[in-house]
Amino acid sequence: MAEIKISFNGRQALCGAGETVLDAFLRDGIEIDNGCRQGVCHACLVRSLDGPPPAAAQVGLKPALQREDYLLACLCRPERDMRLGLGGAAAGYTAAEVVEKRNLNAQTLWLALECEHPLAYYAGQFVNLRRADGLIRSYSIANSRNSTRLTFHIRRLAGGRFSEWAHRELAVGDRIDVSDPQGFCYYLADLPAANLLLIGTGSGLAPLAGIVEEALHNGHRGQIRLYHGSRDVEGLYWLDEMRDLARAHANFHYTPCVSRGDVPSGIAAGRANDVAMAELPGLRDWRVYLCGHPDMVDRAKRQAYLSGAALADIHSDAFHVASPTLD
Ligand SMILES: Cc1cc2nc3c(=O)[nH]c(=O)nc-3n(C[C@H](O)[C@H](O)[C@H](O)COP(=O)(O)OP(=O)(O)OC[C@H]3O[C@@H](n4cnc5c(N)ncnc54)[C@H](O)[C@@H]3O)c2cc1C
Ligand code: FES
Repeated sequence: MAEIKISFNGRQALCGAGETVLDAFLRDGIEIDNGCRQGVCHACLVRSLDGPPPAAAQVGLKPALQREDYLLACLCRPERDMRLGLGGAAAGYTAAEVVEKRNLNAQTLWLALECEHPLAYYAGQFVNLRRADGLIRSYSIANSRNSTRLTFHIRRLAGGRFSEWAHRELAVGDRIDVSDPQGFCYYLADLPAANLLLIGTGSGLAPLAGIVEEALHNGHRGQIRLYHGSRDVEGLYWLDEMRDLARAHANFHYTPCVSRGDVPSGIAAGRANDVAMAELPGLRDWRVYLCGHPDMVDRAKRQAYLSGAALADIHSDAFHVASPTLD
């Protein structure tokens, strides 16, 4: 098949068979925001200016955006020549200042940002953080809606461009851009008696901690059961804080889990999703929140569904890392 021409912002890229628009742009040096490269962060949202794009390029977009021919460049494998533009729905960014930074454990950084303009968000949503050189990564908001600050838990990945930089170089007083909040994995206050199951691995605790804080602040009456998992005990954090919270609220239960090696008392042995499912055999009418490693999220989704949770009540953010491609 002949190469397909994609024009964007006055530049043109040639897209090979099976190649995504994002990969073609990166190869040809055309600047476009991007983060996860897997259709999750929506940083690469663009609009087709000459008719509907392939349906697969619109997966996960709101119906209004789909109707207006928006698409995700990282999912778009074009079938014809296309003209693309940014449109008006590309995420806005606001400037923020780093106001606090400390370690939660050897791998996880706690970062607090003060935004120039307050953001309207739901507890559990994520934002895209954009560095001065344009590098973008998604991080979940770790606090409830009752704060002007946004806090994050950033796990350091060996060789990771953003996370290594955030751990080593980003300093109090530095500025960084924060996108409009995104995602559908957030606390809904409409059913205060509903039981909530929250399962997270590693820094997947971040959005879940925000959801727990929000639910307790709202006087949520149903059970709130949080399972936080890590391979080893060193990967856990906030044990004391979560245990204190559980002592203060009779409906909040916290179970830290470790899947390998020695397991100290007070910590459950096994993967967080398996421990949770063994303790809670029936999840009918429960709301389920799953965040962290994509494999855990996939497995736990299936388990929760088989245990009776409705698909519409299972909310998740898989922390996909950007696929190592051309840049
Ligand atoms: C919705 C969402 C929410 C998220 N929330 C959080 C959160 O709250 N906390 C959190 O810690 N993370 C979160 N993430 C993950 C986060 O967005 C980043 O993906 C993560 O921090 C890694 O980014 P990085 O730039 O450090 O790593 P990258 O530079 O993207 O690299 C990722 C990994 O791939 C390897 N790699 C990179 N390039 C290559 C190459 N060319 N060849 C081989 N290997 C390579 C790196 O060594 C590294 O291990 C979230 C992700 C999503 C999608
Ligand atoms: S959705 Fe395309 S880069 Fe994240």
